[in-house]
Amino acid sequence: MALFEATQIHKRFGDQVVLESVSLAFEEGQLSGIMGPNGAGKTTCFNVLTGRFAPNRGVVRFAGQDITGKSPREIARLGVARSFQIMNLFNDDSAIDNIVVALKSVQAQAWSVWRDLGRHTAAYEEAAEILREIGLAGKESMPCRRLSYGERRALEIGVALAARPRILFLDEPTAGLGAEGTTRLLELVGRLKQKITIVIIEHDMNFLFRLADRISVIHWGQVIAQGSPAELRDNPWVQRSSLGGLPA
Ligand SMILES: Nc1ncnc2c1ncn2[C@@H]1O[C@H](COP(=O)(O)OP(=O)(O)O)[C@@H](O)[C@H]1O
Ligand SMILES: [Mg+2]
Repeated sequence: MALFEATQIHKRFGDQVVLESVSLAFEEGQLSGIMGPNGAGKTTCFNVLTGRFAPNRGVVRFAGQDITGKSPREIARLGVARSFQIMNLFNDDSAIDNIVVALKSVQAQAWSVWRDLGRHTAAYEEAAEILREIGLAGKESMPCRRLSYGERRALEIGVALAARPRILFLDEPTAGLGAEGTTRLLELVGRLKQKITIVIIEHDMNFLFRLADRISVIHWGQVIAQGSPAELRDNPWVQRSSLGGLPA
């Protein structure tokens, strides 16, 4: 059984049907990619899978448990993390404080940690380790707003990792990054995929084709194609959209 499974998800806003009937399965230990044109319903799909919207029909299962209609908070607590297409950081706080407040160990004790110096230190050590993992060692006390755009995108991923999730959803992580930032992110996600199950929405096909074990194409509210990068290479939609830019 897949770690995460969505079956025949239907989602509409008023009269507008955004997801007609979407079924997806994400295997443990794999990196799954989702592609599709703007407005295809990819972000809406993430919103349904992570609890922001309940589907009108369909079932979402995580680790064998039916999580359909549960709140984002409940779903997060079960081990599902996401980072957002729009950034979601505390800009006045330091890089490390952004991680500390998101740590599973800190969240579990509400705010009592601030009064407990011993645990406080452990939390900062744990957060520093995450900063190292995402390539931000040395930037611990830098106020978030002074980090570069690429560093803030990495920090967002660090905040998601702080919850110690079993599965990580990333919505267009390369958005706004230049070539160098994209290369750095490719390395980071390439490292993370050794440790954690990842699902990525991404319009940068080059990025996705290098990383993904399996890719699903969402169009017209349906999954119109699915397979390994090699299998999808000849897909007409992929061919049209990539303009010959796929990695060799
Ligand atoms: N909260 C919402 N209320 C109404 N319509 C929405 C809402 N969220 C998304 N939509 C609509 O759903 C469609 C798909 O949007 P989205 O999921 O953001 O697409 P994608 O991420 O593939 O670009 C769009 O037409 C958008 O306007
Ligand atoms: Mg989107």
